[in-house]
Amino acid sequence: MNLATTVPVLTLDGPSGTGKGTVGQLVASQLGWHYLDSGAIYRVFAVMAERANIQPSDLIGLETFSNTLVIKFESRSNSIAVYCNDIDLSEIIRTESTGDLASLYASVPVVRKSVLNLQKQQRRTPGLVADGRDMGTTVFPDAKYKFFLNASAEVRAERRYKQLKVKGFDGSLSTLREEMRLRDDRDANRKTAPMVMADDAKEIDTSDLNIEEVVNRIINIVRNPTD
Ligand code: C5P
Repeated sequence: MNLATTVPVLTLDGPSGTGKGTVGQLVASQLGWHYLDSGAIYRVFAVMAERANIQPSDLIGLETFSNTLVIKFESRSNSIAVYCNDIDLSEIIRTESTGDLASLYASVPVVRKSVLNLQKQQRRTPGLVADGRDMGTTVFPDAKYKFFLNASAEVRAERRYKQLKVKGFDGSLSTLREEMRLRDDRDANRKTAPMVMADDAKEIDTSDLNIEEVVNRIINIVRNPTD
C-alpha cells in the first residue's frame, strides 16, 4: 500500500464565506496536522496566468504554462505565505477579484489536472486538513473525515464583507453578495470536479455558529468517532 494513503485526511468543502479557511487552520493546529488551502493554489494560478496574458480559453497555452509554475507554502507565525516561482503572492491572492478570476481558471479541466499532484503531495504524516471545493469528492475521496460547511447566502456575504472591509475594500454589500452568488454557481455547476457535498460528508450549517463552535464540533467528531 502507498504509505501516503495511510495518512489521515480531514476535508472541509463548501462555498465561499463559510469560514472554511479559519476553521481549517484552527482544526489543523489543534490536531497537530498539516493544512492545505487548495483555493490558494487556484488563486496563484489565476494571478500568474493573467500576468502572462494566458486566457482561460487557451487550453494549450494553459497546459504548457502550468509546467512553469512552482508553488510553495511557508508557515509564518500567524499566517501561511504563498510563493510562486519565488514571488511572494500572499497578499495579492486574497482580493475578491482574484477569487473570481481563480474560479474562471478553476473551471478548466487542464488547470485542475495540473494542480492535482501538488494537492495530493500535501498528504504528510501525522495528517492533513484540506480545505476547498472538491477535497472530499475528487482529491482525497478516501479521507477519514469529511465535512461540508454551509451558511445562508446573506450570512456568507456579510462575513466576507467584514473581512474585506478590514483590508480596505470599498465595494457595496449587495454587489459583493451578487458576485459571490455568481462564483458559487460557477463552482457548483462546472463539469469537472464541481462543488458538491460528498455522499459520506457531514454537513455543518455555520449560519448561527461562531468559529469556535464549528471547530469544537469538528474536533468532537474526530475525537469521539462514534457520536
Ligand atoms: O476557497 P477560495 O475562495 O480561496 O477559492 C477560490 C476559487 O478557487 C473558488 O471559487 C473555486 O473556483 C476554486 N477552487 C476550486 N477547487 C478547490 C478550491 C478552490 O475550484 N478545491
